[in-house]
Amino acid sequence: MQLTMSLKSLSFTIPAASLALASLVVTSPVLSAAQSPAMAGDAARGAKVYQSNCTGCHAPDTNSVGPAHRGVYGRKAGSAPGFAYSPGLKKGGFAWDAARLDAWLTNPQAFIPGAKMAFRLTSAQSRADVIAYLKQGAAQ
Ligand code: HEC
Repeated sequence: MQLTMSLKSLSFTIPAASLALASLVVTSPVLSAAQSPAMAGDAARGAKVYQSNCTGCHAPDTNSVGPAHRGVYGRKAGSAPGFAYSPGLKKGGFAWDAARLDAWLTNPQAFIPGAKMAFRLTSAQSRADVIAYLKQGAAQ
């Protein structure tokens, strides 16, 4: 009797475990695609994302709440003349590329501790679009 019971519970355990494995396999590519800066961006959509999310703090040629954006794609981080950057961004020592912009827009403070951009773009698609827009030079 006892043997039958443990066999029964075994037959429940195995499918549950393989189900968990299967969902892991299915989930991880989706997650990495969502987090990948290589996600296809659309510059035209990005212009709208920029207009409604960034222009409150950024302008092409003038520093406002945030630094001037002209040429920011490929530009050295923390280098807009006359802008009072946070120390971390000021000494960033890198040029803005798609991967770094994606990380920055996802969570500036996680990318650069002490960063003072109080804004996150949570949609991976919107980030890809606005990065395509910046890359195309439309804000430049
Ligand atoms: C609430 C205001 C605010 C909004 C909205 C905002 N930013 Fe910023 N941004 C800042 C500030 C402030 C900094 C400077 C951060 C620092 O010094 O740590 C900054 C810095 C940056 C930098 C670094 C520039 C450089 O010269 O190194 C990039 C790139 C950037 N923002 C992109 C964007 C984009 C794209 C959007 C819209 C999706 C956006 N920001 C929305 C305030 C904002």
